[in-house]
Amino acid sequence: MFVSVTGTTAPGIDPTRIRADFPIFGRQVHGQELAYLDSASTSQKPQAMLDAMTGFYSTSNANVHRGVYTLGIESTDAFEAARDAVAQLINAPSRREVIFTRNTTEAINLVAKTVGAERCGPGDVIVSTVLEHHANLVPWQVLAQQTGATLRFLDVDDQGNLQLDELDEIAASGNVRIVAVTHQSNTLGVRPPVEALVRWARTQGALVVLDAAQTVPNRPVDVQALDVDFLAFSGHKTLAPTGIGVLWGREEILAATQPFLTGGEMIRSVALDRTSWNTLPWKFEAGTPAYAEAVGLHAAIDYLQAVGLDAIDAHEHAITEYALGRLGEVPGLGIVGPPDAASRGGVVSFVLDDVHPHDIAEILDRHAVCVRAGHHCTQPLMQRLGHSATVRASFYLYTTTDEVDRLAAGLHDVRKVMGV
Ligand SMILES: Cc1ncc(COP(=O)(O)O)c(C=O)c1O
Repeated sequence: MFVSVTGTTAPGIDPTRIRADFPIFGRQVHGQELAYLDSASTSQKPQAMLDAMTGFYSTSNANVHRGVYTLGIESTDAFEAARDAVAQLINAPSRREVIFTRNTTEAINLVAKTVGAERCGPGDVIVSTVLEHHANLVPWQVLAQQTGATLRFLDVDDQGNLQLDELDEIAASGNVRIVAVTHQSNTLGVRPPVEALVRWARTQGALVVLDAAQTVPNRPVDVQALDVDFLAFSGHKTLAPTGIGVLWGREEILAATQPFLTGGEMIRSVALDRTSWNTLPWKFEAGTPAYAEAVGLHAAIDYLQAVGLDAIDAHEHAITEYALGRLGEVPGLGIVGPPDAASRGGVVSFVLDDVHPHDIAEILDRHAVCVRAGHHCTQPLMQRLGHSATVRASFYLYTTTDEVDRLAAGLHDVRKVMGV
């Protein structure tokens, strides 16, 4: 009855074939195949990535940037090759601008606690939006409290579309130093007008920090075309392991900034009374880095690029359109966020009558349908939209129309079980 997504997207995306590369889809939950609709939270992992990490640990493991023996050289080469892969993925002008962190949260904290702390004070303004994940909100709140700068939030309309009408007033209120914005809302899937914000930030002499946790995994992202100053993403949402993330930053800014964490790896020389810093990017990578995880990230990037990020974006768009149609058939279901699939990513939030989202998620789990329920680490956005929680289904390159059908069927069951 429903058009196959395979037939409507760019060649190369066949989610059924792609699923065969992901061992987790071989397992059952409650005697049923998995319908994994929580990739905005974390992605599943392809065998090629798991093999790369196991192979590395089995044959080449040694700490990086230390050993002059063969294993240490191989390990260092593999770690630094991962950096090159990231630089190429996001079109960074230089590998020196790619800093490995634990995740997006740590990357944004790094910027706030170094560049932010050095550049902000009383009379200065930090601008963010009510769309943000707490990871791109709390660090700026703390920075404002610690420096005396003012934190202003751009509002959204009732569907979560970012409003830019306050920019002139904000510009008149002080020196705008930092603009921190998400590339795509993890809760609603909306993609704010980043280009317009960057243009405005440039007129203010402000730095732009882009939270790309929800876009690097599924569409081509080019830091030079975006013209931002910093960009952060997490490996675990990008088919890679947990424990590795990326901060990209402009070299001239990073070079002029004091380190974040201090200790081993990030030094050039240490005496008892003074220390000089390593060059970029290692100046910002204190301690033993997550080098095996970097190998995993490299394999994940290779996998994504072999499939094609344009094709993944197109597939997510088609699946989102399909999901909005299927969810629209469920009586009492309200989409939270834009009702259409235009200019949004593969994330759909919804509520169902007055059934609590946690009850919905629990009943869906009986059908082996995995969705997230709650505030999605965006409490201010929830308050703005008048919800304490939503159910969120999110899609990726391995999502099939069959999974979406099972979500819709599960929601009909929720209505029956809850008597609505
Ligand atoms: C938009 C966005 N920013 C930041 C984060 C935080 O990512 P992490 O927990 O990997 O640091 C997330 C995670 O869901 C996210 O979706």
